[in-house]
Amino acid sequence: MKYGHFDDKAREYVIDTPRTPYPWINYLGCEQFFGIISNTAGGYCFYRDARLRRVTRYRYNNMPVDNGGRYFYIKDGDTVWNPGWKPVKTELDSYSCRHGMGYTIITGQKNGLTASQLSFVPMGVNAEVHQMTLRNDSDAPKDVILTSFVEFCLWNAQDDMTNFQRNFSTGEVEVEGSVIYHKTEYRERRNHYAFYAVNTPVDGFDTDMETFLGLYNGFENPQAVFTGKMGNSIASGWQPMAAHQVKVSLVPGEERRFNFVLGYVEVPQAEKFVAPSVINKAPAKALLEKLTTDEQIAEAFNALKKHWDNLLSAYVLTTPDEKLGRMVNIWNPYQCMVTFNMSRSTSMFESGIGRGMGFRDSSQDLLGFVHQIPERARERILDIAATQFRDGGCYHQYQPLTKKGNNDIGGGFNDDPLWLIAGTAAYIKETGDFGILDAATPYDCNPDDCGTLLEHLEASFYHVVNNKGPHGLPLIGRADWNDCLNLNCFSDEPSESFQTFSNPNAPDERVAESVLIAGMFVAIGPDLVAILRRRGLDDKADACQKEIDAMNEAILRDGWDGEWFVRAYDAFGHKIGSKECEDGKIYIESQGYCVMGGVGVKDGKAEKALESVHKYLETKHGIVLLQPAYKEYHLELGEVSSYPPGYKENAGIFCHNNPWIIAAETVVGHGDRAFDLYSRIAPAYREEISDLHKMEPYVYSQMIAGKDAPNFGQAKNSWLTGTAAWNFYVISNYILGIKPDWEGLKVDPCIPHTWDGYQVSRRFRGATYAITIENPSHVCRGVKQVTVDGQAIEGNVLPVFADGKTHQVTVTLG
Ligand code: GLC
Ligand code: GLC
Repeated sequence: MKYGHFDDKAREYVIDTPRTPYPWINYLGCEQFFGIISNTAGGYCFYRDARLRRVTRYRYNNMPVDNGGRYFYIKDGDTVWNPGWKPVKTELDSYSCRHGMGYTIITGQKNGLTASQLSFVPMGVNAEVHQMTLRNDSDAPKDVILTSFVEFCLWNAQDDMTNFQRNFSTGEVEVEGSVIYHKTEYRERRNHYAFYAVNTPVDGFDTDMETFLGLYNGFENPQAVFTGKMGNSIASGWQPMAAHQVKVSLVPGEERRFNFVLGYVEVPQAEKFVAPSVINKAPAKALLEKLTTDEQIAEAFNALKKHWDNLLSAYVLTTPDEKLGRMVNIWNPYQCMVTFNMSRSTSMFESGIGRGMGFRDSSQDLLGFVHQIPERARERILDIAATQFRDGGCYHQYQPLTKKGNNDIGGGFNDDPLWLIAGTAAYIKETGDFGILDAATPYDCNPDDCGTLLEHLEASFYHVVNNKGPHGLPLIGRADWNDCLNLNCFSDEPSESFQTFSNPNAPDERVAESVLIAGMFVAIGPDLVAILRRRGLDDKADACQKEIDAMNEAILRDGWDGEWFVRAYDAFGHKIGSKECEDGKIYIESQGYCVMGGVGVKDGKAEKALESVHKYLETKHGIVLLQPAYKEYHLELGEVSSYPPGYKENAGIFCHNNPWIIAAETVVGHGDRAFDLYSRIAPAYREEISDLHKMEPYVYSQMIAGKDAPNFGQAKNSWLTGTAAWNFYVISNYILGIKPDWEGLKVDPCIPHTWDGYQVSRRFRGATYAITIENPSHVCRGVKQVTVDGQAIEGNVLPVFADGKTHQVTVTLG
């Protein structure tokens, strides 16, 4: 069952009932100011850092699920309703929510009145616009009352939800005309405030929650709205909020717009006040001046659309498969940009408080967005690298506001360093910017202790080499990509963190090894070798290659289980992911990365491993992470065995590493299998089963419940997941086969044999490549001939033109 449809032309998903199986959200903002907005106008916004600069409050883990947002109430006679249905939940005559690229339009209709809320963050501005359009579609005049609503957060979102003894006394606001200013803590150490404005005189306002709602009322029955009488309250402590009341008369057919702006400004320290306790409102007024008239709002909205036209024109696929088209051209790249902006901070599953930017997560995200915004990818790489230690280890996370490594979590996740090589290589292949390797980059966030980025990459590589275990395989540390494989943790107390705790009585930490990291080393290491060679550092390149060869051998010797690759060795030297185990006999990760690294391709082990994935891990909803699921908690394995069978890392369908198998299938030339696996988890292909899938059908979720779970096929944790980058990477580079390489753009598709062909227009290093792929003999793989602007070329790497022109490329498979 569906709850809406794709409007590909408008690049929107159109939801036609507010009763989606879960709040289906969208993201506002592309630069510094961000928000999430649900299909019923719930959500919140923040400036740069969801934890430290939260602008509006959100009430987590609440009932109903999605509580708090930018609500508009309409009182038409005795009927009070919201265009997004919630929170009053008056039945609407019609409803739609259009989630587009950086904007959302929620439209409700009731008793002949249409109310439409357009929400977006304009480019270059730290504010959300909520343009409310009211139209009288009835044949009688209407007098209605429009009331806006947001609740302010006291900036630090963690403290805001916990420290009530202080916070109930600190809230402060000012009101001037139609602008409500939120200035809590501005009197002391903050130099920033927020404001909520509307471009029309107001008939009343409230800033104190209890006055607005009435004692013991909720968002669904604010007394000021239902009585039509605002309190004109000035909050002092408790819960500061902002509501404007606007009385509107509309003759039949008349339409009026009201432009609400919710903004954030910073004020130079010396100019904070214009009089004792009176804040300097000039920066807010300057911002509002640019966003007052309908023309200004329309212009800002157009600029946002242009921004997205430009981003999405970097890779355009023309295919008869409309589901594939909407994934590749619209929603997958869009999700990649959202993960670039948010990392793992803000969604219906990430509170914006728990995690900052992940070292491995952000490095992998690069794979998905580097072609859209290479300059920002460059900056991101250097930010990430600055949180690396001299020995190559790294902070597992850092805060976006401070760009400092997070000490609570620290380091010791031994896959982290390799992702930096992967991300940097992807960036250089995209841009040809080898110069980034010379950038002076701090260690441990200390600007006085720098190395070049190339030195960082070498440190990454040698961190693996210098930390090997008894089988010559990489030590796992606290965990590898699988955060939940905690082989040195031995936690037996519920409050201990699986990721940071290690039991003082645990065995030697230098025993547990990861075959995944070994596979990554063999797959990613050659990029460093190639970089060193291009720099003329052949001795170093040879030395690295030797290490890679040794690792390859170690995997074939001690990482092969007969039918598939072992996953790891535990702290006692016992195998994990082996036929010897009772549960967790086979894991997905090592199959994917070892084959991507080419391990066992020559002697058939790679194909055998993929055959085993097919046999034991594949389901109709995707590939589960392991089998059989752990039935009980294993002290020596940690969090992976803590989840009930079928969820998360314990045999859930972890969508993030399904593409590793898809990529691996292309390595051995299985185009049919690769695409089949792709389409099992790609959300557009799952739209028809939205009632089961539960999450948004336009973006990937981190996990789909596996076959051991009662809710097999149900997704969770949508939006902020490495799944976005990896699926874009695998479909664009491995299946459609347009792959940036050191010297040019490589074309090497691996597709279903039934495909006749497709076209890709790809922007690459200052030129556009209009590529037509033809498959007359219906093969899965194999480039027979390539012509560029009518001339046949040798091989399948398209040269770099950098001439700003469009070049016609024809590729014939056979
Ligand atoms: C989550 C984490 C990621 C980790 C994965 C598997 O997606 O963000 O870092 O690799 O889970 O545990
Ligand atoms: C990842 C995993 C999750 C784990 C968390 C710990 O998000 O998916 O299961 O609890 O990492 O940081």
